[in-house]
Amino acid sequence: MRAMPIPSDHPLLLRIVDDLGAQGWSQQNIFLPDSLTLELAVECRRRYAQGELTPAGVGRGPGSEVREGIRNDRIQWVEAGESSACDRYLGLMESLREALNRNLFLGVDDFECHFALYPPGGFYLKHLDRFRDDDRRVVSVALYLNQAWLPEDGGQLRMYLEGPREYDVQPTGGCLVAFLSGEVPHEVLPAARERLSLTGWFRRRGAEPF
Ligand code: OGA
Ligand code: MN
Repeated sequence: MRAMPIPSDHPLLLRIVDDLGAQGWSQQNIFLPDSLTLELAVECRRRYAQGELTPAGVGRGPGSEVREGIRNDRIQWVEAGESSACDRYLGLMESLREALNRNLFLGVDDFECHFALYPPGGFYLKHLDRFRDDDRRVVSVALYLNQAWLPEDGGQLRMYLEGPREYDVQPTGGCLVAFLSGEVPHEVLPAARERLSLTGWFRRRGAEPF
């Protein structure tokens, strides 16, 4: 069991839980202290410089294909025990997982996440975070790692909400966005500069589709 840096009834986590229950999404502009955001950004850049981030696929398993017309970010999945900054983030997500289950009865038993780096010109077309053949993803969480992001840098996360209306989030360092994976279509608008994030999903246990 990982050490939990904050309890699952911390007000910051309960705000996310309340927003998800009320409207299906949540934005927290100051989720992480700057020091941890910076450490995670350094870790992401270090992995990139070492060639560990590889072109992201669309879909999962043997059917996953790299299709640069849909998304052209580079990713690397994060595992526990690789770096202290990542482990601290995983600990926070473990507390959030408990909060989701305790308050919303989501029954999520797993968290997976990857670093993502969009090169200048990078984008990810409108999509849902559930695969046709795999509906285990319940809540999506994007944490941004960019310093001083400006609107003209592009790269916003655009969510298509009820109304209908569009809502854009600047990928500014320390900001965390969560939404219901099966209900909120979204896209990453073309970024004019390098765009770093740590993107993850709370999942229900289920049969492996493959
Ligand atoms: C994804 C995704 C959004 C973002 O990786 O599935 O939609 O803002 N990312 O990085
Ligand atoms: Mn997505």
